[in-house]
Amino acid sequence: MQKYSKIISTGSYLPDKVYTNHDIEKFVDTSNDWIIERTGIEKRHIASESESSVDMAHAACIDAFKNCAIELKDIEMIVVATTTPERKFPSTAVLLQNKLNNNSAFAFDINAACTGFIYALDIADKYIKGGFVKNALVVGTEKITSLLDWKDRNTCVLFGDGAGAVVLSSSDTPGIISNTIGSDGSYKDLLTVNTDTEVIEMKGNDVFKIAVNTMGKLAASTLEKNGFKVEDLDWLIPHQANSRIINAVAKKINLPEEKIVMTVNKHGNTSAASIPLALDYANKQQMIHKDNIIMFEAFGAGFTWGSTLLKF
Ligand code: COA
Repeated sequence: MQKYSKIISTGSYLPDKVYTNHDIEKFVDTSNDWIIERTGIEKRHIASESESSVDMAHAACIDAFKNCAIELKDIEMIVVATTTPERKFPSTAVLLQNKLNNNSAFAFDINAACTGFIYALDIADKYIKGGFVKNALVVGTEKITSLLDWKDRNTCVLFGDGAGAVVLSSSDTPGIISNTIGSDGSYKDLLTVNTDTEVIEMKGNDVFKIAVNTMGKLAASTLEKNGFKVEDLDWLIPHQANSRIINAVAKKINLPEEKIVMTVNKHGNTSAASIPLALDYANKQQMIHKDNIIMFEAFGAGFTWGSTLLKF
């Protein structure tokens, strides 16, 4: 049995095309001021017609392997979190594996909507801790704008595309300290993509309140059950859906704003890609450092939720 799994490298990819709030003002009844005030979002990246969630995942993984202690051929497990697969099957993870020229790993997708990356990380962590694999690639990738009704101002201003990846390896020292995941399917209709319409439908106000409550409790219980105080936390890297949700959760646990990695202004809500994108941003900006205590936290359709406490 391995003792811990540890993130040894991060990578990300954002499509070239950007829609600012002013661009969206041109085709739907909204305003830059409303979007910034209610969500904190200033712009989002939009994948091109020909660019799929596999292409974006591939670019994020190549980025993660630019400065990595291990090679792609050493990866034994690939887990991809996505709600926007390129094909119904084979899975995004298998298509990614093929593009990466890795033929030794086992690869599969998971769908837990915006919490997907934390579910994927939890699974990979358990495989490593169980001693079944030494190196895993964990990816969140979304072409979520393909699920938008660009005439619906309630949803089209909120989302963006992108991908983030981490290389997770066995380690004698932490590493991932704990993962918590949960779900409650009774909320299935508050945030959904139905197969007949294939666009995101959301009761935004209800989602907002439940997200703040659930994530506030989860953040507090994650710290408490691991014997950590909020002062021990160097960074909170939350799912980036809305800056008001993020700030409300931080306030509930008395975490100062300077300890929050906030990228929702630049990326919008990129669903399963949002945490690895924010992590890689913070890593490249040298905001986070070795041995920092970091908490990831997410909430998504289902509802699903999850948290990860780790030493970077
Ligand atoms: N531009 C301008 N006005 C808009 C708008 C837009 N893009 N979207 C909605 N409005 C309007 C509404 O039509 C409503 O108008 P009305 O009062 O005349 O009916 C008004 O703004 C307020 O709507 P409401 O839904 O109460 O706003 P809100 O403060 O809850 O903010 C969200 C809306 C969507 C930003 C917010 O509810 C939210 O972020 N929810 C959670 C979304 C989320 O995180 N989803 C993913 C979870 S993983």
